[in-house]
Amino acid sequence: MTIDSSEVSGQLTKRPRRLRTTERLRALVRESRVSAEQLVMPHFVLPTDRAEDPVESMPGISRYGVKNLAERVLADADLGIRAVLLFGTPEDGKKNERGTPASSPSSAVARAVETLKQRAGDEIVVITDVCLCAYTSHGHCGVLRDGKVINDETLPLLKDIALAHAGAGADLVAPSDMMDGRVAAIRRGLDEADYGDVGILSYAAKYASAYYGPFRDAAESTPATGDRKAYQMDPANVREAIREAYLDEQEGADMLMVKPALAYLDVVRAVREETRLPLATYNVSGEYSAVKAAAARGWLDEAAVVRENLVAMTRAGADLIITYHSREALERGWL
Ligand code: PBG
Ligand code: ZN
Repeated sequence: MTIDSSEVSGQLTKRPRRLRTTERLRALVRESRVSAEQLVMPHFVLPTDRAEDPVESMPGISRYGVKNLAERVLADADLGIRAVLLFGTPEDGKKNERGTPASSPSSAVARAVETLKQRAGDEIVVITDVCLCAYTSHGHCGVLRDGKVINDETLPLLKDIALAHAGAGADLVAPSDMMDGRVAAIRRGLDEADYGDVGILSYAAKYASAYYGPFRDAAESTPATGDRKAYQMDPANVREAIREAYLDEQEGADMLMVKPALAYLDVVRAVREETRLPLATYNVSGEYSAVKAAAARGWLDEAAVVRENLVAMTRAGADLIITYHSREALERGWL
């Protein structure tokens, strides 16, 4: 770093504060901005036409039946939310060892995608989460044997889910399981089935995080035994995130993701500097709920904190931000 003395013979000559004096000046020199166009709203879809079921640990978020979801998403589009990420839940009692209801053409997610595409066409980008954990009886993201998740046996199951979502009309599929080689397996499957236009948003660096707690309530995807540390990443690692990003890029991912966001902004920055692909970050359920809980007690100014968090993700290098705050941020003019 060059030493640039701000003092000349006892007089201050360099005064960074000059550019902070009015909001107009600050806006003129602002380095990062968040816009509605980069926001992605996550949604939980229930396997029924009509339902609206608030998620207790995520104030402001509900799980919706297919028709309610479509209404919600269309109303949100008027606010400027033009991209959604869909998570499904199976019908009661339908989970099984291999999570096969996930790849049914009549799954909640497949029906929601079809409905959204019928009603909104290309006005809304529809992204689907591809994973098994909400559909397996054991709650793990892959085939489980003797307490271990078997990587290569999981790949065809993930590919089948991606094909079902592509068949319903998804624009992008987003594998969140963290199996090795799943981007290649899904890419090959999509291409062979003539879904060459369907893209892959890879959860490239997904950490084994305690911040997923509220999500697992909503998606009913808590592992019945053990944890996800043998497939999701160790929170201590950043070089490994770059390696994961490279592998997914080589396997054919169209966009990459770092998840969670706030505790991993250094990882967002590191991956940003190593790839030319669009980069997403996922401001996850626990990050959302923590802000909501503090705001509800009057301990934080929610608008200001959400604004600060969103600009921080952008500043770190995220192009897309997946966040449960999307709707409120636009509805209440927080950007
Ligand atoms: C499923 C999945 C999870 C999330 C997205 N996809 C949970 C997990 O891995 O246990 C977390 C999202 C959130 O917390 O908002 N593989
Ligand atoms: Zn999973």
